[in-house]
Amino acid sequence: MRALLLTFCLICLRTSFAENCSFSFDQLPSKLSATCLYENIESKQLNSALEAYSPRYPLWSDGALKERWVYLPPGAQINTKDPNHWEFPVGTVFWKQFSLDGKRLETRVIKKVGDTREPFVAGSSVNWIYGSYAWNADESEAILQQWEVERARGTAHTIPSKASCYSCHGVEGFTLDENQLFKDSYLDFRPLGFKAFQLTDASQDFPEVCREKLHSSYLKEISLDSLTLNKLLDANLLTDSHDWKNRASLIPGDSLQRATLAYFSVNCSHCHSSGIPDVHNVLKVPGLFAGEAGFVGMRLAVDVSGTPYEMQPALVTLVNQKTSYYRRASGGVFRVKAGDYEESALWRRFTSSSFDHMPKIGAHKVDPYGQCLIENWIESLGED
Ligand code: HEC
Ligand code: HEC
Repeated sequence: MRALLLTFCLICLRTSFAENCSFSFDQLPSKLSATCLYENIESKQLNSALEAYSPRYPLWSDGALKERWVYLPPGAQINTKDPNHWEFPVGTVFWKQFSLDGKRLETRVIKKVGDTREPFVAGSSVNWIYGSYAWNADESEAILQQWEVERARGTAHTIPSKASCYSCHGVEGFTLDENQLFKDSYLDFRPLGFKAFQLTDASQDFPEVCREKLHSSYLKEISLDSLTLNKLLDANLLTDSHDWKNRASLIPGDSLQRATLAYFSVNCSHCHSSGIPDVHNVLKVPGLFAGEAGFVGMRLAVDVSGTPYEMQPALVTLVNQKTSYYRRASGGVFRVKAGDYEESALWRRFTSSSFDHMPKIGAHKVDPYGQCLIENWIESLGED
């Protein structure tokens, strides 16, 4: 009788889960359990309709471990015509969960709820909804947050406010026409990690010279199960396959060059991706860096459309280029001076523990691996 009851209850739990979780929400629910990430949040049984993925080149988050999942609505494809900018079908959901010191801290969720081509409205997304859920002490539930939460569960980790999601996930790639008017009237927020170069099949791509500087969080992340480009292609989930089948990397260059380009793309390009910096800064980092902060003009996103290493936007906008804002009063310094990292504003700001530290928000501790890449790469530029 007991066994029978138990079986019965398991079935009823499953049915109620399926009924409650159709992924059809168009506002973020107040509890994480209602976003359908877990079939059973207490036992942490994941929803089998999701796929786990881990970017080949993880973002530095002061050593926190991140796990990520995606839900793609059945039957829909990701439009990959432009290899650098994937367009996701309405209904796509992403989750990213942060843990530190063995504790779950927060789970971030973004969902595509519309596909309107309306002009961009400052401060709000037309098509994507964003939010982060803070975990409770016994990890039985996580609750949607509006405001920043410092020292989450007693750790050094800060949960960002809802508004600051947009600082990094904001619009990308403004272009102006000959009259200096926006060429693209359709601009929207976007996911950042689910990209072609992040989903290639190689198990790791870290140059030997910096291997010992890798924080354990990196090694854990890339060893997680992952949805890959090959799997997406085999399941016919991408509209355009380019030449991605079985590629180990889509980034040009040798191992150090690839890793450095990827590092800039992952850690810096969500802010440094536009050629129209004034507008870019005002919109992307509302309030914080408005006004004088403009005119940076560095583009640090990797271009996987076949652009050779020397022509990658990061090379063109960094190497032997004077800063446009930093130390402007003294005529600027080099962003990257080939062969000399100490004379490079990029290195100084990356290693700074003061107000001018880069990245501007998100991470505060200097990443030893990133520093190693930057130093070796800048030195190698002096060898040609
Ligand atoms: C400091 C910049 C920054 C801020 C602030 C930020 N994100 Fe992200 N986020 C990123 C980057 C970069 C990635 C891709 C790399 C990765 O996943 O590690 C990412 C990835 C994600 C993902 C996985 C899907 C994807 O985009 O690839 C989710 C979900 C997400 N962020 C949600 C949020 C939410 C919700 C907020 C606000 C509470 C937020 N993020 C704030 C930079 C940021
Ligand atoms: C959250 C947004 C954000 C992120 C992420 C970010 N930056 Fe910046 N960065 C800015 C802003 C805003 C400025 C202009 C204001 C200033 O100089 O502080 C800037 C300026 C700079 C400058 C000076 C450029 C010039 O020409 O004056 C350098 C160099 C720089 N960043 C490097 C980096 C590097 C390297 C990374 C990644 C490791 C990074 N930044 C990540 C927002 C960001």
